[in-house]
Amino acid sequence: MTAPVTAGSPAAPPSTAHHDRATIQENTLRTDRWWVTPLLTFIGLAAFVVYGLVRAFMNKWYWAGDVHLIAPFYSPCLSQSCVSGSSHILGQPIPRLPDWLSWVSPAMMVLILPGGFRLTCYYYRKSYYRSFWFSPPACAVPDGHKTYSGETRFPLLFQNIHRYFFYGALFVGSVLTYDAFLSLSGKDGGIGLGVGSIILFINAALIWAYTLGCHSCRNIVGGRLKHFSSHPVRYWMWGKVSVLNGKHQQWAWASMVSVVLADAYVMLVASGALTDVRIFN
Ligand code: FES
Repeated sequence: MTAPVTAGSPAAPPSTAHHDRATIQENTLRTDRWWVTPLLTFIGLAAFVVYGLVRAFMNKWYWAGDVHLIAPFYSPCLSQSCVSGSSHILGQPIPRLPDWLSWVSPAMMVLILPGGFRLTCYYYRKSYYRSFWFSPPACAVPDGHKTYSGETRFPLLFQNIHRYFFYGALFVGSVLTYDAFLSLSGKDGGIGLGVGSIILFINAALIWAYTLGCHSCRNIVGGRLKHFSSHPVRYWMWGKVSVLNGKHQQWAWASMVSVVLADAYVMLVASGALTDVRIFN
């Protein structure tokens, strides 16, 4: 029979208080430049937010009517104050918000969906928790805060809303795709093609690559199944979504840059600072 082990006896096991940090004097033992990635992330995300805010409050130069280009940040244009021609689908005016909301920039109304989608995205969460909140700034670097409650409390509990923003992002992706096709209307009627159209198509493709690679999309498409063999279509879709999901971070950055460039291009054309280069008509 084994004798009971008591604390302090020679046979006592080592302490199991493993939740305490080891007594290391240095803040971190990492000697590489671990701070470069969070710093670059901070600069990139901050620049995107600043551009978005400036553009949203600008409330002009979002529709180049002669070449049928609408800026992504203002599409769909839902305000009663939208300039003529910017809020039509298939030639018909779309329903717009009440007149008393006309003081709100149309971009503000639209950016809630893609903004909320990106803000609650699993990848962006990781990146801004690290670069803005230092929680933690990098692997093997201590958290910048004394306590850690994860996403179990208000307001981070609301990050769970991401799966619903995904459906809004499907709508946004569809609208941007429609806008790209709309820009194929020629200046003199019929079909035309300009650099602006190519930019809008590239942007729509990157937005779809980011949206369909979403973790929520992967779960919606292939989750909660007992046997893939009984669902060959969903299995096929899950495989495609998983390929996109594997590069979700890259799609997140590529689509973020492309939406800014597309918006800036249309802004310059709509303001008259630039002429859309036409390939034909
Ligand atoms: S996890 Fe990134 S968009 Fe859903």
